[in-house]
Order: sequence, then C-alpha cells, then structure tokens
Amino acid sequence: MPAVTRRQFVSRSALAVTGASVGPRLAAATQPDPAELQARPPLIISTWPFGKPANDAALAVLLRGGSGLDAVEQGIRVTESDPDNASVGLGGIPNADGVVQLDACIMSGPGHRAGSVAAVSGFRHPISIARRVMETTRHVMLVGEGAEAFAAEAGFERGPRVSPKQKAAWQRWKKEQAAQAKAAGKHPNHDTIALLVLRADGAVFGGCSTSGWGYKIPGRVGDSPILGSGLYVDDEVGAAGATGVGENVMRHCGSFLVVELMRQGLHPQEACLEAIRRMARKDPLGFNLSVNFIALDRQGRFGAAGTGTGFQYAVTCESFSRVLQSPGLTSADIGPVGGNRK
Ligand code: GLY
Repeated sequence: MPAVTRRQFVSRSALAVTGASVGPRLAAATQPDPAELQARPPLIISTWPFGKPANDAALAVLLRGGSGLDAVEQGIRVTESDPDNASVGLGGIPNADGVVQLDACIMSGPGHRAGSVAAVSGFRHPISIARRVMETTRHVMLVGEGAEAFAAEAGFERGPRVSPKQKAAWQRWKKEQAAQAKAAGKHPNHDTIALLVLRADGAVFGGCSTSGWGYKIPGRVGDSPILGSGLYVDDEVGAAGATGVGENVMRHCGSFLVVELMRQGLHPQEACLEAIRRMARKDPLGFNLSVNFIALDRQGRFGAAGTGTGFQYAVTCESFSRVLQSPGLTSADIGPVGGNRK
C-alpha cells in the first residue's frame, strides 16, 4: 500500500480543493492498515465521514435481527434524511433547471437481486424506491417520470424538488453562469454514499444513493444507480461501491472490476488500488479520474482507495466505528499513465 504522509496528504488536499471536482473533506487523516483492525462481521463500510452514522444505524438493524437489506436501506436513509448533506437526498444540489434528481440502487448477494432508480425528483428516499422495484416488479431499473409514478402509487414519502437553501444557491449559480458563460466545466463537489454490509453468516449486501453532479444537465445519470459501476455485490466474493465522478466510474465498470479483482485473490484494499491503476493506465485522464472505491469480502476483510489524496470512509462493526483515510494514487506513485492512442 503506498503510504501517504501527513505532509503529502495536506499538500495534496490543497491541490484537490483547487484543482479537482471531488476530494476529501477533512484534514485529519489516519491511515491504519485495514488488516490490523480486527473487524469481525457483522461489518459495514461506507463512503465519506457522513457514512458513519449510516453505518451505526445499519449495525443496529442487524443487531436487533433485521435483514441485510433492511440494514442497507435504513443506513442509507439516515444520509438521505440529512438536510445539510448537499450531495445525497433532497438537500442535494439541483440540476441546471433547479430540480434535485436522485439516483440510487440496492443489491442483495443472496439471490443476486437488484433494484435501481435514476433521475427521480420529489421523493425523500430513492433507496427505498429502488428496493421496492427489486422486490415487487420484474424489472431492475426505473427512471424519471416512470419511477416517480411508481413511487407515488406505492405511497412513498414526498419532499420538495429542491431545498430552500439549494434553491438560493442555484439562483446565484444561474446569475454567475449568465455572467461568465465560458466558465463551463466547473461544478461543485458531489459525494455519493455507497454502503456495504457483510452479515455474520457471510452474506453480502449493498446500496448507493446520490443527487449526483451539481447543476448537471437535466436527465444526466451517474454511476450510482448503474449496477457494476457505482455498486456491485457478488455473494461468492464480496462487494464494492464507488464515489467520485460517475462518468469516469461508468466507463470502466469500476465496482464490477474491483469485485473481479477480489475474486482473483486480491485483498479488498489492493483490489481497489489495482482497479484504479488499471483505469488510469488506459484513460486519457490518468490519475485525474477523481474516483474512489470501497470494498469488502466474505472473509470480513475490507479496504478503500482513491485517486489523488484518496478519500475518507467509515468502517463499523461491534467493536468499533470509525472514519479512516484511504490511500491515494497519483502518477508519482507508478509513473506516467493515461494512454496515448486517439
Ligand atoms: N458518483 C456520483 C455521480 O457521479 O453521480
């Protein structure tokens, strides 16, 4: 695992804040070797520090006898309910039309079942709608108006299409856009929650939820609801989830790749690192992909990795619940990458 010193971390963080669209939020970084943490299932891991309360809720569900899917759903609902979270749930940053469009998916290792929704607005809990798609329809994915009609008929809780705070920010953004039309390409951070559950018996589950790229083109869908990209669960192996620039995760089927690397015998942490190396080697963006992965396997091992400075993720089991810093990868670690064929 490439070590990131605190000094490197701070200087790379500064770069991330000025030069990248997605980056770590907290300066206090710890980077223990996940193998030393003695995590025992039930085990939950999720992206970003805001995943910790979601993990805690998921663990509580499991400890009172709830199912793996209940744990994923209830955990992610905590993040979706946070009005101050600007990138998950209806507190999220809206699209260019000022409407929050949410993406989510859920997957069960047992039965290899999945459900997904994309570009849904006006409902508080897309993770629950995704689960309902999985459990009550013969489809896997519903989008846009169809997904909203499905959610309305099923009686899911509604909410505003944009929060007052984000509406005010969007109005300022619209003015700025008009003033500097050429500033396209800049967009605010967005941090998905991907949450993975390993039950005590080795069964694996996962979910993902986001409001996606801030001020995106209406109808844009990222990696989070796309199975194999933002999330993948394989009960024979383990699970992986992603956060970062969805367009870059999708072009490489990132979470599927991480799971397949674990199938070949890699530790989850090394699988996340190797997936990013492979992506960066062939991609013109190299290590500027702004992608991050978490992963766990059936044996209860876990890990994470990201481009640049890496990112922070939350790990929870009965003996501890804490936020860890993942390793990050840059071309300084393995030399120039990025492919050169047109
Ligand atoms: N990773 C979330 C998104 O790009 O929408």
